[in-house]
Amino acid sequence: MISSRLADAGEGEVPFDRGGLDVRLDRLRIEGLRCLQSVDLRPASDLNVLVGANGAGKTSVLEAIHCLSNGRSFRSGGQENLIGRGVNSFSVYGEVLDAAEQRRQLGFERLRSSWRGRLDGADVATLGEFARVLAVVCFEPQSHELVSGSGEGRRRLLDLGLFHVEQGYLLKWRRFQRALKQRNAALRERGYSRNAEIWEQPLAAAGDVLAGDRRAWCESLSPYIAQSLDLFLPEFGAARLRWRRGWPEDLSLADALAASRERDRDLGYTVRGPQRGDMRVEFSDGGGRYELSRGQQKLVALALLLATASAMRERSAVAPIIALDDLPSELDVEKQRLCLRWCSGLGSQVWITGTQLPAGLSEWSGSCERFHVEQGVLSALL
Ligand SMILES: Nc1ncnc2c1ncn2[C@@H]1O[C@H](COP(=O)(O)OP(=O)(O)O)[C@@H](O)[C@H]1O
Ligand SMILES: [Mg+2]
Repeated sequence: MISSRLADAGEGEVPFDRGGLDVRLDRLRIEGLRCLQSVDLRPASDLNVLVGANGAGKTSVLEAIHCLSNGRSFRSGGQENLIGRGVNSFSVYGEVLDAAEQRRQLGFERLRSSWRGRLDGADVATLGEFARVLAVVCFEPQSHELVSGSGEGRRRLLDLGLFHVEQGYLLKWRRFQRALKQRNAALRERGYSRNAEIWEQPLAAAGDVLAGDRRAWCESLSPYIAQSLDLFLPEFGAARLRWRRGWPEDLSLADALAASRERDRDLGYTVRGPQRGDMRVEFSDGGGRYELSRGQQKLVALALLLATASAMRERSAVAPIIALDDLPSELDVEKQRLCLRWCSGLGSQVWITGTQLPAGLSEWSGSCERFHVEQGVLSALL
């Protein structure tokens, strides 16, 4: 449905009409996270803007939301650093309205060496249960690393989308990771053993499945990448997403593993396979990896994030929450507008932070709450 809108969209248009409301946070309570001692918010269903000085606690609110989705912050550094000075734990509680208007209650508490999660009043065994209820895609000042950094971040983004649109994906991912770990352990055994060889068959079987799903997902992302970069970064011509599965196209994974067995033994880990899979954005007219400025890398990263949200919406009919940290310093006013129009068309709940109100907000027509953040305290901004 959305793809056809994409094809119809005119120049400079975003590909959606605003649909119904999507998954959104309707209540957010945070205690003891960084400088946020006690926060209790009733967010707007469409857009929430947090404004305040540097160090006021704006990004910390987005980190709290991210924790409700997957138990960790998007910022690097040990998760125990999120625990506020002078307390032993932090907690985040959220009420989520899903697309069917069903109210779900999520609670997450982190202590120094353990965590506890509750979903609708019952303890959860794995954080995957949270991520199924609440998905968050976050654009933040380090997002250019999605383009300039190692493939790990890109694989994480791929997996995040797939995990949401495909019920069985987590299981497939775990099966692959287990086989990979076993083969790597066997590769490091002293003396000769056939253990590494024995793990190749299950590793190849699980890896083929994973790589197939990722390739198909990249195909779903592709039109959105082309469309969004045509808006955000037209100067390098047509953009396309290129997928590399992590081993040569002319070899089966089983053959690739067998062929690199001796090298893998020397290195002590498995060199070929989906753990090396990667996606890259390429342009018809320049825009090579080392040619893009930091600002242009950010736009490509934003396109990857918005494409992920859009494909999630297309495949599962549910768009994730979109968090845009420090938007006014990351994007110029025109790009802010384009980004907000895309988000609005998607129907995602959007969270924006900035030291000032973003100028790109002027066209926003949906519901909007503005909060002032000062020394970890939030108040309504009139
Ligand atoms: N573990 C912690 N305990 C208490 N305060 C912290 C902790 N970690 C960071 N801070 C402080 O919390 C504030 C949070 O900053 P942040 O949310 O990044 O602010 P903003 O995004 O508004 O610039 C900063 O002033 C920082 O020094
Ligand atoms: Mg910040």
